[in-house]
Amino acid sequence: MNVLVTGAAGYIGSHTCARLLAHGHNVIGIDNLYRGHQAAANILRGKGGDKFTFQRAEVADRYVVESLLREHRVDAIMHFAALAYVGESVDSPLVYYRQNVAAMNALLEASDAANIQRFVFSSSCATYGQPPEHLVPIAENCPQDPLSPYGRTKLAGEWLLRDLAAARARANRPFSFAALRYFNVAGCALDGSLGEDHTPESHLIPVILLTALGKREHVQIFGTDYPTPDGTCIRDYVHVDDLADAHISALSALKPGATLAYNVGTGTGASVREVLDAARRATGINFKVIENPRRAGDPARLFADPSLIKRELAWSPNVPSIDAIVQSAWSWFKTHPDGYAK
Ligand code: UFG
Repeated sequence: MNVLVTGAAGYIGSHTCARLLAHGHNVIGIDNLYRGHQAAANILRGKGGDKFTFQRAEVADRYVVESLLREHRVDAIMHFAALAYVGESVDSPLVYYRQNVAAMNALLEASDAANIQRFVFSSSCATYGQPPEHLVPIAENCPQDPLSPYGRTKLAGEWLLRDLAAARARANRPFSFAALRYFNVAGCALDGSLGEDHTPESHLIPVILLTALGKREHVQIFGTDYPTPDGTCIRDYVHVDDLADAHISALSALKPGATLAYNVGTGTGASVREVLDAARRATGINFKVIENPRRAGDPARLFADPSLIKRELAWSPNVPSIDAIVQSAWSWFKTHPDGYAK
């Protein structure tokens, strides 16, 4: 298939391009390089040769995207390009709505004009907000009640897709999509070629590993008084290559007119202290940890019920343990302490 990938030079987008190329697909990557890395696109070009094309472009640039879709006879779109910091979205909601909703609307207009029939969307477990305790582990039918502008923009993306699919079905021009609601994506390419390089970086595992490398003074634990066995928050960490493979499985499963949504997580939670222990084992370094009060807006426990994606897409994680996830991240960070800059 010819697949257009938006956000191709970003963390999840680049890993998915690599997996698409490994599966024999042709990939047309676009990225505005605001937070993506030209170096990641260059690595993909090295892997894919002529099967990988990259263009610096804005998703919102409807006419550029439409001409790429036509020129490359694109069969399907995978849409990753988005802003994805919860805290930033609270401070700058309009920027989030512009990038995550308005730009996606333009992308869908381009895809509609070019009669694209398959779309895989990078959604988030942030669309669920903080479900009541009895609904954790979280299944897809859990009410979506996001707590942040970021979560609301991802939910709005799902609505755009649902409404477009309904209109296209009425017009007898089927459009199918899968919304993948990610839990905590972590780790780096198992072949060591691609990694995680965010600016700013606030995610737990990179923060810990940058501290182990001496690039930060200490790791802060945000809250030790949660109602969890060790008092710290529990999250469902899913390896980025497993997440990438979930996209490819979803794409293959899209029958005309299908409207799918899947939670992508392992179904097992790890607490902040458990992640810290895994990082001590992986690095052999006893970095400094300090205990701080809770960070605003952090739910105590979030993890997926992944039964639906396991059942319908036969997807299951190849990297199911927190130790293996942290180890893969460490392989990247210790060889790329300055990220793609080096
Ligand atoms: N944490 C710390 N110290 C840190 C960083 C994080 O203790 O320095 C804790 C957080 O409080 C949280 C856990 O580690 O309990 C994970 O935090 P991350 O910032 O790594 O990830 P979040 O769970 O906050 O956010 C993730 C994704 C978002 C998504 C959200 C959905 O990064 O994109 O899940 O809840 F929206």
